[in-house]
Amino acid sequence: MTAQLIDGNALSKKLRGEVAARAAALTAQGLKPGLAVVLVGDNPASQVYVRNKVKACEEAGLHSVLEKYDASLTEAALLARVDALNQDPTIHGILVQLPLPAHIDAHKVIEAIAPEKDVDGFHVASAGALMVGQEGFKPCTPYGCMKMLEYIGYETRGKHAVVIGRSNIVGKPMAMLLLQANATVTVCHSATPDLAHFTRQADIVVAAVGKRNVLTADMVKPGAVVLDVGMNRTDDGKLCGDVDFAGVSQVAGWITPVPGGVGPMTITMLLVNTIESAERAAQSVDR
Ligand code: GUN
Repeated sequence: MTAQLIDGNALSKKLRGEVAARAAALTAQGLKPGLAVVLVGDNPASQVYVRNKVKACEEAGLHSVLEKYDASLTEAALLARVDALNQDPTIHGILVQLPLPAHIDAHKVIEAIAPEKDVDGFHVASAGALMVGQEGFKPCTPYGCMKMLEYIGYETRGKHAVVIGRSNIVGKPMAMLLLQANATVTVCHSATPDLAHFTRQADIVVAAVGKRNVLTADMVKPGAVVLDVGMNRTDDGKLCGDVDFAGVSQVAGWITPVPGGVGPMTITMLLVNTIESAERAAQSVDR
């Protein structure tokens, strides 16, 4: 292996330590930061994600509330819960775990979250703020990727970044953040012919498709930074990303492993967004 590993666990430990110190300071002022996590249905992957988010909150000294509902919950009932959490002064961040059951309009639910508590950064107000360069919550996974680039001291200005995937959660906000950081950005997706043509020109590749081996060694420029957002399973059940790690790590300059790369950073940035929301609330409270 020639690439250097970007250790998401080590960076998360450092950043979560900073969050814990900020949480302790706020708690000492009488305002304990709080995150509400809402899970509807019994998607097994969602259950694991949600459990990890609640555990991370507790470890960092944040208050967390997990609301679990049966898959039959109506959209109206969920909207009523979101509204109640919007009004709750002990809650500074609201996260409704996606995907939601098919009978619930996820866009409608996300739009019901107060933008000042939208710590996932999924509300159109947050997406719009990111688009025009105004202050707002950044989606946690792309935000974590940017922190990883910062961690290795990588200068993004003038570099060519290729983002594979155009989801609202990762691909699109990732492209916006890289653009804001003065990279030249190409977004590739399922209708892109000859993906390798683009990735071979890239100084930074972000793979966010949700499919194994989307990026192989022959598609990577020597020395490139490769950030793997994928979370898949091999045929024998082992966790793996979108990148052929064994091959690409022979060519890239830097690479994130799966597990232990981008995954822990997503939760870390959720904690960062929640603490920022709580700090803003503390400033606006008339005390
Ligand atoms: N489903 C998969 N990733 C996420 C995430 O980061 N936030 C929410 N709310 N749902 C998800």
